[in-house]
Amino acid sequence: MTSLSDAQQPPLTADYYSKTCPRFHQVVQTIVVPKQSSTPTTAAATLRLFFHDCMVGGCDASVLIASNAFNKAERDQDINESLAGDGFDVVTRVKMALEIECPGVVSCADILALATRDLILQTGGPHYEIKFGRKDGLESRASNVEGKLGRANMTINDIIPIFESHKYTHREMVALMGGGHTIGFAHCKEFQSRLFGPKPDPSVHPKLAERLKAMCANSSEDPTLSAFLDPISAGNFDNMIFKNILNGLGVLGTDQAMASDPRTRPFVEEYARDQVLFFHDFARAMEKTSVYKVKTGDQGEVRRKCDAFNNHPQGKSV
Ligand code: HEM
Repeated sequence: MTSLSDAQQPPLTADYYSKTCPRFHQVVQTIVVPKQSSTPTTAAATLRLFFHDCMVGGCDASVLIASNAFNKAERDQDINESLAGDGFDVVTRVKMALEIECPGVVSCADILALATRDLILQTGGPHYEIKFGRKDGLESRASNVEGKLGRANMTINDIIPIFESHKYTHREMVALMGGGHTIGFAHCKEFQSRLFGPKPDPSVHPKLAERLKAMCANSSEDPTLSAFLDPISAGNFDNMIFKNILNGLGVLGTDQAMASDPRTRPFVEEYARDQVLFFHDFARAMEKTSVYKVKTGDQGEVRRKCDAFNNHPQGKSV
């Protein structure tokens, strides 16, 4: 059989599983809702996992692939090593349930997209539409990750081109970074250079600095120590992060930097004033993210297990 060209691949659709797995959304909810209630770190873990998946070669579940003797996969690149286990766990559990409900039908990429959307809603964030029919990617290489994701020690001049390379506007970038960091946490190593020097960051509010220093005092012995990214309303998806950074209460240097740069500050101010606008823009930016470089038709497969390609240990040959 000849394969289709990229332009001939079918588009994503809202009712993709309506005949082949009509209870898809219900099954996702039966796993996701109780998991988030019992383990509130799940939503942030899943949102970050989804973003890190989409930015590296598209939303194709390539971040879920486990490394093996032949291939060092995306998730073992250093920036992904801190992806929290609850995100992987929720997808694995949904996949197991769906393989009983409708075997071989629902892709891991669609599960991750829908679980993320539902978890944002469960923490108080906006609803947005998700379309389905993503196929799981046939490639996952740690070496593909570099340059596609920001790091907390970067300047805003480093971050902006990364988002531009993914075709996001500055407004979308601010909405996404704020939305991503209104829930969840960061390990001390991601922000402690702002506190302890050699040159402590003067933009950190003294009260926050005091609190974070106390929290991270033993981080060299205990690298798991961490702090909420939104120290005022952690766990609630809201616009508090923007109010925080206008007051020097941004935990990550990159979040705080959005308040000083003239390309991003106007949006920070708008979103701090207007949560409805922030929710609207975040929702649109997530819809855009969720279709980024997706594979459909014969561009990928429906994996049997989310952490392994179906037939080839290394992924497609290069
Ligand atoms: C250049 C931009 C960004 C940088 C530098 C950045 C950096 C970071 C860092 C350093 C952490 C802490 C990781 C850890 O210590 O475990 C983090 C956490 C997180 N990020 Fe970002 N991030 C960026 C953009 C985004 C975007 C756009 C989203 C989603 C839309 C996002 C979602 C998250 C979430 C949800 C967490 C919390 C994870 C958890 O609690 O398990 N980030 N980010």
